[in-house]
Order: sequence, then C-alpha cells, then structure tokens
Amino acid sequence: MPLISSKNMLEEARAGNYGVGAFNTNNLESTQAIISVAGELGSPVMIQTSQSAIQYAGGAALHAMVKTLADGVDVPVALHLDHGTDLDVIRKCIDWGWTSIMIDASSKPFDENVSTTRRVVEMAHAAGIPVEAEIGQLGGIEDEVEVSEEHAHLTDVAEAERFVKETECDSLAVAVGTSHGAYKFKGSGDLALDRLREIADRIAIPLVLHGASGVPEGILERALRFGAKLPGAKGVPESEIQKAVKLGISKINIDTDLRLAFTGAVREVIATQPEVFDPRKILGPSREAIEDVVRRKIRLFGSEGKA
Ligand code: G3H
Ligand code: 13P
Ligand code: ZN
Repeated sequence: MPLISSKNMLEEARAGNYGVGAFNTNNLESTQAIISVAGELGSPVMIQTSQSAIQYAGGAALHAMVKTLADGVDVPVALHLDHGTDLDVIRKCIDWGWTSIMIDASSKPFDENVSTTRRVVEMAHAAGIPVEAEIGQLGGIEDEVEVSEEHAHLTDVAEAERFVKETECDSLAVAVGTSHGAYKFKGSGDLALDRLREIADRIAIPLVLHGASGVPEGILERALRFGAKLPGAKGVPESEIQKAVKLGISKINIDTDLRLAFTGAVREVIATQPEVFDPRKILGPSREAIEDVVRRKIRLFGSEGKA
C-alpha cells in the first residue's frame, strides 16, 4: 500500500483500545523486518526516523526505502518523524513525503512549547500531515540529548488539556514514568498509571508512550553472552504496557529493544564466525532478531489483525 497518514490509524487505535507500534529505523534490514512482520500479522505499523537517523541515512533515501517496502505489503504503513526539534528538518520531511510528524518542544517552557507546536501544526496541516506533540519530560537519552532524572517530570493533567486545545495537535506524547534507552528503572518498573488514567479521562486524542522498550531477558542475555556491557539495563514490564494500552495509549515507541536485538545478532556472528567478512552474513541475522521483537510487540499491543 502507499504510505498513509497516521491520523486515522491512531484514532482507530484509540477507539478500538489497542496500540500501534512505532518502530525506529536507520537501515534496510530493520525496515524490512518491521514491515514484513506487520504484513504477516495484518497489523498497521509506524516506521519512525529520528533527526539523527535522517542525518545518518539521508531523508530521500529513507523515504524511498520505506515507501518501496510499504508498497509490497497489504497493511497501512505511516512514516513518522520522531522527536522533531528543527523546523527546517520538519519542513524537509513534509517535502520528502513523511506522512506523520512529531514536534518535540517539551524541554521548553509551556508557552514556548505551545507556540512552537502551534507553528508546526499550521505548517503540517497545510500539507495534510498530522502532528504529535509532547508535554512533560521523560528521562534518559534522546537524539544525543541526555535528560537527567531531576529534570524529568510527569505530564500535568490540566496543562496537557490546555496544550491540546491551544495547539490542535493530533496526538499527544505524555510522560508517565518511562524514559528513553536501556536503563529505565532501578526499582520495580511501575508506570504512573493513575496519572495516565486522569490524562486519558480528559483528553480524547490518541496518547503516545515514548521510552516503551522492555529490554527483554532473552535479548539482553544474547547481547551479554557475546560481549555487550550493559550493567543494570532494565525496561518496562509487558504487564505495564498492557495496562497503559487499556487506559488509552495508542502509539508505542520502540527503539532500544530493536537496537539490542540487532547488535546482539551481529555480535554473535562476529564472535562465533571470525572467518566471515561478507556484510550480508553479518547483518542478515539481525533481520530475524528484529522480526522476533516486532512480532512480540504487535501481539502485546493488540494490533494484530487490525489492518
Ligand atoms: O527517542 C529517541 C530514539 O531512540 C532515537 O534515537 O536519535 O539516536 O536515533 P537517535
Ligand atoms: P526506547 O528507548 O524505550 O526504545 O524508546 C524509544 C522512543 O521513545 C523513540 O521515540
Ligand atoms: Zn521518544
């Protein structure tokens, strides 16, 4: 299918009480894996690229790759800009053919977040592209910016309600206790579900959960066995994700688990087959590793068969 807007895809997810997986990509193998599993499971899917992914791979090349692979499956695929902060890059993404945009001005004071988001909404809506915005602040590392625990704060319900009215954004990323990267919790991994419930009671548009990777045991174990050093890595428990989806989370962002799976597979080939130097033999197994992650996530989020 041609690439489609995320607008209806996420509104249907909110109405139907399931989540759409939004998976980050930088390269061919990951994109092939994500799109082929979405096709196999009959699930809508979002492919997302950060600004640094665009810098790494090139916007036109990423768009051509995602569009071509999406054309080969019978499920809706949206191409989304993750954590857009640079208005020039946002403009370029719209011109290249991205079908969904995030403006992340969440580190700015409320009024500046509103005015920046509003500007992007006007620009994107003029081109028929929906906008995700963010209020509240997650911890961890995103796009090379590290947010310390003291600066992270949960989304304020009244502020979020005002923010959505004033910006007319199409979906809203909320901070409810997750963080980006592989080190999310020192303790139990419980999310602020009461806060999420209050937000969802007052905001009808689709809600987005960033920092949703689970850092699953099996994936971590493979990476560690073949030389990774990830002391204290811990992700969001699957049970918390399921509860968040029931409460109104409609888009779930996953990057770290894909990175861990990808590099674990590559590490294994390099460690066990030192004679191999064909990049296809080194990178190929990462495709299956990513497929396994995406299959499990799509089932967890409840979007299987919803295409
Ligand atoms: O939230 C951030 C994503 O994990 C993307 O990270 O900017 O290193 O591509 P990146
Ligand atoms: P993870 O680091 O938990 O995979 O989160 C990714 C994300 O939120 C991308 O926007
Ligand atoms: Zn994020």
